[in-house]
Amino acid sequence: MSKHLFNNIERRSINIVKGEGIYLIDDKENKFMDLWGDYIHPLGYGGYINESLTEFIHKSLPHQNPKIIQVDIVDKAADMLCEMAGYDKVLFTSSGVLGIEAAVKLARKYWYDKGLYNKKTILSLYGGFHGRTYVGLSLSDADGYGSPYHRSGFSAYGCDNWESGYKIIPKAVLEKRQLKSFLKNHYLDCDTIAAILVTTINGVNTVFSYGKKNLLYLQSFCKQKNILFITDEIQTGMGCCGDILSYKIFGLNRPDISVVAKKLAMGFPLAAVLTTEEISETFTYGTHFDTFAGGTLACFMMFKYLLWYKNNFKDTLKMAEYLGKELQKLPFISKVTRFGWQMAFWLDDKIKNKKQFASFAINNGLIIGQFRENPIKLQPPFIITKEEIDMMIEKIKRTIKDMEVQE
Ligand SMILES: Cc1ncc(COP(=O)(O)O)c(C=O)c1O
Repeated sequence: MSKHLFNNIERRSINIVKGEGIYLIDDKENKFMDLWGDYIHPLGYGGYINESLTEFIHKSLPHQNPKIIQVDIVDKAADMLCEMAGYDKVLFTSSGVLGIEAAVKLARKYWYDKGLYNKKTILSLYGGFHGRTYVGLSLSDADGYGSPYHRSGFSAYGCDNWESGYKIIPKAVLEKRQLKSFLKNHYLDCDTIAAILVTTINGVNTVFSYGKKNLLYLQSFCKQKNILFITDEIQTGMGCCGDILSYKIFGLNRPDISVVAKKLAMGFPLAAVLTTEEISETFTYGTHFDTFAGGTLACFMMFKYLLWYKNNFKDTLKMAEYLGKELQKLPFISKVTRFGWQMAFWLDDKIKNKKQFASFAINNGLIIGQFRENPIKLQPPFIITKEEIDMMIEKIKRTIKDMEVQE
């Protein structure tokens, strides 16, 4: 392992030399099912990805987009994404958090341009995670599922402090519908709120829903009080929860802005801010820009993903359902949650060393991301077959058997 890389992420010493379908293969030819893949590999490795890359190479297009000149594939990809997601306009960025950053800038300037200079505060939800820039950190819940360490030590002084300009809505306030009095207690009123940012399903290291009624309440609150409703679909979009955007699953109206990333370009760095014609006009020439945003290669890979999605995605949901059911049959599992392909299971208290599940799993050929005792989140590529699911279930069973179980 390199002694030069930062140690900001705990890495296991497996040297991956190849990817094939849902598998990663190491230099000793051991095969690992990749059930983590940072949620960005909907079609796994090799195969369709390699064919798409080969097609791109044969086009001899510039891999980045000169931006000030039209490149057809970028325009085609943008049109296809907007048509499939049901939006008028798209702004590309090169990572999810830069999409959130752009959405916040859009919301604030949108009201500023209307002369509503006080509409600046952005609200987000308890337990949420929206990325690791200062805006991302400000909107993420310090005690939430994002990470217990993600804010600690990173004083926001001089930039903004955690309390100013951003406010996190606590669980009780949402559930008791006390948003108005919550704002009053913080010397805010609706005329100072630019936007509410939500995730429909919190899928960062867990899987839980904020609930249809709560989300509908927030959206109608926004409508009544002239506040923009923004969804962070970075983790939930592009098929993750069973549809291209998860707001549809909750019967919400189309949000004013949605941000997608992760699976969008099958692992190539690309995020998209989707919005209406009117809101998009906020970013006039020169107001917002990002060098690597909307690169030709990433846009081409997104285009190829959307083509695959159109023809194949619905059929994969049968496999997600099958996997959810098989997980429920496993011993020593107390709970399973699933929204489409977003799923997690909880190890019960008979298992003493829960925190080591991922380490035991890797010895059985499963790569799983685990950041706390429970839950264990699974994120298999959408191309997984029934036989592979059966094999995965066997490997999970074996992993549980290897652990310290008190019967
Ligand atoms: C819900 C959510 N929002 C925002 C982000 C930040 O995205 P990125 O890491 O691409 O900047 C993530 C990444 O994990 C996420 O899961």
